[in-house]
Amino acid sequence: MKGAFVHLVGKSYRALTPLIFLSDSEPAHDFVLDMSEMMGKVPGIPSLMRGLLRVSHPSLKTTVAGIEFENPIGLAAGFDHEAQMPRIVDGLGFGFQSVGTVTNGAYEGNPYPRIKRLVKSRTMLVYKGFKSTGMSNVLKRIKGQTWRVPVGISVGRTNPLKEYTYPVSYADIVEAFTKARDSKVPFSYFELNISCPNMLKEVSFYEPEHLAPLLKMISDLKLPKPLFIKMPIGLGDDGVKALLDTIMQFPVAAVIFGNLQINRKDSAFIPEELATLEKFPGNWSGMPCQKRSDHLVKLAYNHVKRRLAIIGCGGIFNAEDAYRKIRNGASLVQLVSATVWEGPQVPAEICADLPALLERDGFKNISEAVGVDAGKS
Ligand SMILES: Cc1cc2nc3c(=O)[nH]c(=O)nc-3n(C[C@H](O)[C@H](O)[C@H](O)COP(=O)(O)O)c2cc1C
Repeated sequence: MKGAFVHLVGKSYRALTPLIFLSDSEPAHDFVLDMSEMMGKVPGIPSLMRGLLRVSHPSLKTTVAGIEFENPIGLAAGFDHEAQMPRIVDGLGFGFQSVGTVTNGAYEGNPYPRIKRLVKSRTMLVYKGFKSTGMSNVLKRIKGQTWRVPVGISVGRTNPLKEYTYPVSYADIVEAFTKARDSKVPFSYFELNISCPNMLKEVSFYEPEHLAPLLKMISDLKLPKPLFIKMPIGLGDDGVKALLDTIMQFPVAAVIFGNLQINRKDSAFIPEELATLEKFPGNWSGMPCQKRSDHLVKLAYNHVKRRLAIIGCGGIFNAEDAYRKIRNGASLVQLVSATVWEGPQVPAEICADLPALLERDGFKNISEAVGVDAGKS
């Protein structure tokens, strides 16, 4: 019954997309965030949304890194960069949310345009570069709140910094984590973003010798909740394995594959559509991330042998996409772009459809399906 209703909402949203796609992406995004924050403050609205949209099923419940999730579908970092949504995110059907990426210092973002859609290729060109009001402001906004689903905070390097050196970058990130740790805001996990491809100047954490000191400093903070790492998908397989080997030397609970696609040659692009944005800088969400992140979920699952949990992210638009990542090795999944192409109710639709896929294949719970295809080529 609930499933039929959320699919009806989805159908209505999708019928309206020709109109929705006439809007400019960034103002539309800002409007949704402001509306979400307002709705979260009105008594009764979050519970009404929950009553209408949230789809629960015992087969979707799972525990990862010691955290209980009512379902495995998360809102990935980037959508709610200022933490305006945690009070209503469960009402949309999400099982968890990463807020941010938040940086220690403030940054108004890279020059416009910073988000542009390619409607047919199902992707957004993203060039925000860690727009953030800064960690202290974000923590002030959510201090005192409690949430019904696990919420984590994604932390990255301030963009720009006064000096682009490793010591300055490490100190900046460590200060941001320290503020989040000491804030008493009830985060369920912390997320380190080492993979934003839109930084003004590269201080890269893709080399083990640069990542290891950062992870050591973060370990020394004794964060009270698990640490996840948001990984790049633009690195080659050997580079990814080397990073995983480094990460496994530290108390990291999960890796997320992954961030935006930098490869403009990905086969998901419709070439004529891509040509219209040729001159713009930035990197890509949605469908062009799908194949590479599917591959890296499997690669990571096989490489780490359950010493880290894998979280799949990139090009998930429906239950089949989420299920494929789970079968490849993901214990949880996250999405952003599907909320634009399929509608804000998309996590509820996925939760409505996923139990039937599990049942079809004889699984009582998603945890039984994790990695069953990881050995297949
Ligand atoms: C507008 C936009 C902003 C993003 N900003 C961030 C960010 O701040 N931090 C981050 O880790 N990922 C960021 N991402 C990447 C997403 O979290 C995700 O990894 C990527 O979009 C692939 O997922 P999708 O195909 O479901 O969109 C952003 C994505 C979009 C579309």
